[in-house]
Amino acid sequence: MSGIRVRTRKDLRAQRRRRPPRCLGHLTVAPLWPMHGANLGTLLRTCDAVGACMAVPRLPWVPEALARGNTLRNGACVHWVRPMAWLAERQERVLGVELAEEAIRLADLPMAGQPTVIVLGHESTGIPGEALDLLDAVVEIPMIGTGASLNVAVAGSLVLYKLAGFT
Ligand SMILES: C[S@@+](CC[C@H](N)C(=O)[O-])C[C@H]1O[C@@H](n2cnc3c(N)ncnc32)[C@H](O)[C@@H]1O
Repeated sequence: MSGIRVRTRKDLRAQRRRRPPRCLGHLTVAPLWPMHGANLGTLLRTCDAVGACMAVPRLPWVPEALARGNTLRNGACVHWVRPMAWLAERQERVLGVELAEEAIRLADLPMAGQPTVIVLGHESTGIPGEALDLLDAVVEIPMIGTGASLNVAVAGSLVLYKLAGFT
């Protein structure tokens, strides 16, 4: 493994665009029933990395939690929404991320060829039933361990990377 040189922050800055790329507009991750602020901060960093936006409800604690979790110099774009009304109005493809029967396995999920909303569930209760009815498709991340599910920010990040075509 010798000869591997880890890129420094200076290298990374020099290689990236002078101005940060804005949201590319084709991917929107939607943690519509958030519970833990730390997960929103983690998701926001993934959004920045892949050029996605985030749609999140303006619950009293969310703006502050996002500001605290956002360690980026220029944050990713955030849309403040009313979950069910916003979801019902979507013209984009609406993809749920959930452990569900008949779901698409993550490995079979192609890069997004159209604008896509990625709906994430509540950290303890998942995607509510009335929202499941508004999904065009569901993607599941296979697991072989003893845990019942992944952390919501990990699940969302894996799906965002796949849809962005970066993995
Ligand atoms: C901690 S899980 C929710 C728990 C679980 N649905 C339940 O009701 O016990 C939170 C969210 O993370 C996402 N998630 C976690 N693990 C997943 C997996 N293996 N495949 C797809 N989505 C997953 C889903 O959006 C889920 O609603």
